[in-house]
Amino acid sequence: MTRTIRVGLGARSYDVMVGAGLIARAGELMKPLLPRGRTAVVCDETVQRLHGAALDASLKAQGITPSWIALPPGEQTKSWEGLADLSDRLLALGLDRGDVVTAFGGGVIGDLTGFAASIYKRGIDFIQIPTTLLAQVDSSVGGKTAIDTTRGKNLIGAFHQPLLVLADLGVLGTLSDREMRAGYAEVIKYGLLGDFAFFEWLEAHGAEVLRLEPEALGHGVARSIEMKAEIVGQDEKEAAARALLNLGHTFGHALESETGYGEALLHGEGVAVGCAQAFRFSAVLGHCTAQDAARAEAGIAAAGLPTRMSQVTGAPFPADRLIMHMAQDKKAESGRLTFVLAKGLGEAFVAKGVDAEAVRAFLLSEGATA
Ligand code: NAD
Ligand code: GLY
Repeated sequence: MTRTIRVGLGARSYDVMVGAGLIARAGELMKPLLPRGRTAVVCDETVQRLHGAALDASLKAQGITPSWIALPPGEQTKSWEGLADLSDRLLALGLDRGDVVTAFGGGVIGDLTGFAASIYKRGIDFIQIPTTLLAQVDSSVGGKTAIDTTRGKNLIGAFHQPLLVLADLGVLGTLSDREMRAGYAEVIKYGLLGDFAFFEWLEAHGAEVLRLEPEALGHGVARSIEMKAEIVGQDEKEAAARALLNLGHTFGHALESETGYGEALLHGEGVAVGCAQAFRFSAVLGHCTAQDAARAEAGIAAAGLPTRMSQVTGAPFPADRLIMHMAQDKKAESGRLTFVLAKGLGEAFVAKGVDAEAVRAFLLSEGATA
């Protein structure tokens, strides 16, 4: 069964299709968007090895000529060097404004390719074929594109919406358990931030999602995308509601900064700890009950995800360094700390100007060092 979710952004609206077997249908689905019958497919080497032949055959069966650009896997590819290399390779292919680039991979490939497309000859269209759970439920939808710099993650980027997103659930079968769980952190985030019924459904069916059982996986991915599409449709540029999608990210990014944005702590794992911390901090500040915070934590832990800083390699971390990372986060405004907190399960809100001393006391109570 294929589900189609529309991201409503006026003339830039697009469909996100979710289902098994979409790569086999990619040629047919993409053909109307490729008037020149060609596309540059950007992927990482792992995705090319595992799924490249299937996409290549699907495109060629429809008379589409793919030009493959395979980059090294890993966050380091989402860099100035990676952007320069990709841009140069696109130029070497002679693509121009009427052409379309295809991002085929996880969030690293989607973010880099989307950003390269946004600046290539002042802007070229692109299609997303996300291959990780995280990319399917989050990064491929909504048009945030970026690269990292030595001063921080995702600091240079653009809003650039894709023409189409094809989330083929079949490709998730080759993902490692750890990457699957990391993506699931973003799924549970949607329940925690705005849909208590979805959170309850995940309490009952989350294990089936992680086991890739088709019905549960399809619902879990599609409901996540529906929520993201609705929020992005209301607030594309994150002036208000879109900030709710950052639940768990202020705490999580601080831990990712401490651990170097790599294998020690995957982005989704940082979000998992961060969501649990956001609920515990909300309880400490009296916004939600301790029972809600405990239930949020239990839902995250049930997926085998970390919920405490002590579970992160390199712990304990100094409270002041964590606060420094939070203040440097691009979501901070004029140095004031902004958090997404919760009034209850499924009821997140944006809290601006949070007192750094209250954050420090909370972090110390969570095991950070003075
Ligand atoms: P990733 O792209 O690095 O992929 C993780 C690993 O999985 C890589 O080694 C990759 O080669 C491998 N892989 C990909 N698909 C596979 C498959 N089907 N089978 C086997 N292996 C596969 O990481 P990610 O977790 O997908 O994305 C993380 C990135 O996304 C970060 O850079 C983060 O900043 C970004 N992100 C962006 C947004 C946004 O809104 N733009 C949202 C969330 C995260
Ligand atoms: N991942 C957060 C956003 O897209 O806004």
